Amino acid sequence: MKIFRSISEIQEYRKSLKGSIGFVPTMGALHNGHLSLIRKSIDNNDFTIVSIFINPTQFLPGEDLDKYPKREAADIKICELAKVDAIFMPIKEDMYSAIEPKILAPSQKAYILEGFKRPGHFDGVLQIVLKLFNIINPTRAYFGKKDAQQLYLIKDMVQSLFLHVELIPCEIVRENDGLALSSRNIYLNKEERTKALNISKALKMASKAMMKGEFQSIAIKNIIRKTMQGLYIEYIGIVDRDFNKIDKIELNNSIILLAAKVGNTRLIDNLWI
Ligand code: PAJ
Repeated sequence: MKIFRSISEIQEYRKSLKGSIGFVPTMGALHNGHLSLIRKSIDNNDFTIVSIFINPTQFLPGEDLDKYPKREAADIKICELAKVDAIFMPIKEDMYSAIEPKILAPSQKAYILEGFKRPGHFDGVLQIVLKLFNIINPTRAYFGKKDAQQLYLIKDMVQSLFLHVELIPCEIVRENDGLALSSRNIYLNKEERTKALNISKALKMASKAMMKGEFQSIAIKNIIRKTMQGLYIEYIGIVDRDFNKIDKIELNNSIILLAAKVGNTRLIDNLWI
């Protein structure tokens, strides 16, 4: 497995590859969620490139940029064992210049829900993803449905800017008890981790209610709110797959999104219906 820190070197390497390239962008501290994306890419492409870059422009002032987990040695091992072809780990000084064009994510869809709580976050996500796509020039890129709004906005950018990459959405990977895997789960102490289970439990309760025929967004939100008692709820959103708010859940076209704080840790989860 090759490890590149320099942009020009990975571009040289990329030029030498003949065949399809699967790309998995990450911020590292890799877990089984990331690994599921990596495995899918390896199964479906001739080469797989993983990027590890804690992107400063998607963190707001006061967020966890400085303490975001760094696990470089373990990440390299995980990629090596998975048979990744190359890792790209650039430094921020190479990825960004002091003065450069900014990407503005569409406000109607990027400043609601996650973007309402983290204004400007998705501008930073789109900016880095576009840069990474331009450097790697992948055939396919793999993103988790766990970050549903991110996936939607990237899909929208690919369409709007006519980018030549196929996006592959990947299922949410969970612990056995239901907690969605996240690099931020390591911030949780034992008590907080138990509390955090109420997030996925709330989605399960919503699912049960829908199986009994309840599709009104208000009713489903109430069920979720009840189950999440004891957590600081940041938002409960019910949208269609284009991120328009909906009053009634439609099968195969809706997403329920949750964000909550457990202690100081912010967690998100969602259910695709
Ligand atoms: P990061 O949080 O490291 O996530 C990298 C990819 O892994 C994302 O596509 C995310 O949705 C996916 N992922 C995370 N947890 C998952 C889980 N439990 N199940 C399935 N997929 C999961 O998302 C980012 O980094 C950044 O915003 C990035 C796109 C790399 C841009 O900086």
